[in-house]
Amino acid sequence: MFTILVANPKGGAGKTTIATNLAAFLAGKRQRVVILDMDRQRSAARWLSRRPRGFPEVRGALPDTDTKVIREYAPQWLIVDAPAGLHGAALNDLVKSADAVLVPVSTSAFDFEATADFVAELATIKPIKEGRRALAVVGSKVDGRTVAASDLDAFLAPLSLDVLTHIRDSQLYVHAARDGLSIFDQPRSRAEEAWSDWPPIFEWLQSLVPAQKR
Ligand SMILES: Nc1ncnc2c1ncn2[C@@H]1O[C@H](COP(=O)(O)OP(=O)(O)OP(=O)(O)O)[C@@H](O)[C@H]1O
Ligand SMILES: [Mg+2]
Repeated sequence: MFTILVANPKGGAGKTTIATNLAAFLAGKRQRVVILDMDRQRSAARWLSRRPRGFPEVRGALPDTDTKVIREYAPQWLIVDAPAGLHGAALNDLVKSADAVLVPVSTSAFDFEATADFVAELATIKPIKEGRRALAVVGSKVDGRTVAASDLDAFLAPLSLDVLTHIRDSQLYVHAARDGLSIFDQPRSRAEEAWSDWPPIFEWLQSLVPAQKR
């Protein structure tokens, strides 16, 4: 099982959107996927409860109560949707039990400030400090060709962080979330442009997970 922690303490950064879309994509590749919803708002769990039959199966788990679900289903991928405000011991624990940390960053000054603090905190966590956890950032709700995207890249460069890609701001995500879907559950004719933002994330995962483990 490969565990991806999707985290940024800033509320609304795009964590649940990235987590649910990534989960549905992997499920569409015939992978067993569980989303562990660490957020008391239960956005990911609610998304799953809206998910219609007939689409690639993603299972859900809640902290504490559902470790049995994970053990029995033996997913290839566990995607952990972190809550806003995650810091300190809780962050430490989640990082330690993850293989990779994916940080969505939106483009306001407030998001940058909160993310800078978060990245500084991450850098103090032992497995990250020692380079034993993959860490990457994705721009969230930002078109790659805009000034906002350049601002984001300029903000991240001195932090020596990989900006994998920019996930565009699109109503497709909003509508998909409402319907328990992802952009990968939608027809090519509608979603192809939005799909094109994602391959760097998949390639990053591919580089981290040996093929025989998948
Ligand atoms: N790429 C996108 N395009 C358009 N809207 C988006 C995109 N990503 C997220 N959103 C919207 O932005 C809002 C916040 O996104 P999301 O819930 O994924 O963030 P979050 O980091 O999980 O928030 P929280 O901290 O509250 O858990 C939601 O209304 C979501 O639909
Ligand atoms: Mg969320």
